[in-house]
Amino acid sequence: MRLVAGKGGVGKTTVTAALALHAAGRGERVLLVSTDPTGALGQIFPGVTDRVRTVAPGLEVVELTRPAVLARWRERFGEEVYRVLRSLLPVERDVLDYLEGVPGLEEEFLLSYLLDALDSGQYDRILWDAAPTAGTLALLEAQALFYDHLTQAHRLYLKLQGYLKGADPTPLIEGWRILTGRILAMLRTRTRAWVVAQPERLPVVQGLELMAALERFGIALERAVLNRVLPEAACPGCAFYEARVREQRVWARRWRERSPVPVRQLPELASPPLAAAELERLGHLLEEESDADPHA
Ligand SMILES: Nc1ncnc2c1ncn2[C@@H]1O[C@H](COP(=O)(O)OP(=O)(O)OP(=O)(O)O)[C@@H](O)[C@H]1O
Ligand SMILES: [Mg+2]
Repeated sequence: MRLVAGKGGVGKTTVTAALALHAAGRGERVLLVSTDPTGALGQIFPGVTDRVRTVAPGLEVVELTRPAVLARWRERFGEEVYRVLRSLLPVERDVLDYLEGVPGLEEEFLLSYLLDALDSGQYDRILWDAAPTAGTLALLEAQALFYDHLTQAHRLYLKLQGYLKGADPTPLIEGWRILTGRILAMLRTRTRAWVVAQPERLPVVQGLELMAALERFGIALERAVLNRVLPEAACPGCAFYEARVREQRVWARRWRERSPVPVRQLPELASPPLAAAELERLGHLLEEESDADPHA
């Protein structure tokens, strides 16, 4: 699975769609998953929803929303959680509504969706268009915390087992812990990250921090992308344009020098790349071009 991440607005969705269309064009079976709540995937693939849809030959797309993710949780664990709680406390079924706010729960089921898709064997490639930087990191941190909590809860319940009267919660906790462990393993052994930035100060600084954080978490980096690079000779003699190009060059160099993985570059286009053919061309640039530095 490939995770595409970076600061807000740098071109994650564009890059993910480009990679997806390119891979599908080569004959791979591709699933593109967006977990960005403000995702603009619908601009590129009109009509995309939280149900998987085929948008091009070999390419399926889904935008995971909070309600869709929580419905998965209810389906998988909701009844069991309710049964255990009801045996211990005088609660009604709407206790599940409260539990949906538990930190980490939504993230867990969003990731479990990716895990199921990966394990289904239906796809040659899964592309995950993640939320902007802070959201992605919070999602990963929540997962690790969740795992620790469940491990501790498991031990606690084992100790208390003799005193608690009611349904035994240990199979539930253990099932949950195993799922979380598998999700962490997916992130650490079956996921490769592409981090996108534009040649500007903040996207580059935050992109570098994100790369370091992903590596600390144990997610392998695959590529860095430098998006929206101004064509150097587009406006000879225009002082403003040339100043912008010089400014971009500074941050492009910083990105290339500090990035621990090869950098792929996309040009700034005159209009937003939304058409499939245009995106597929960008996908080709990302996948097939060499890592030459035009600013060198
Ligand atoms: N190389 C490019 N040239 C011109 N426009 C671009 C380029 N790359 C992206 N854009 C445009 O920039 C805008 C932001 O891109 P995109 O939605 O891919 O970013 P994002 O990182 O996914 O944003 P968000 O953090 O909001 O999800 C879009 O309108 C997109 O069409
Ligand atoms: Mg996006």
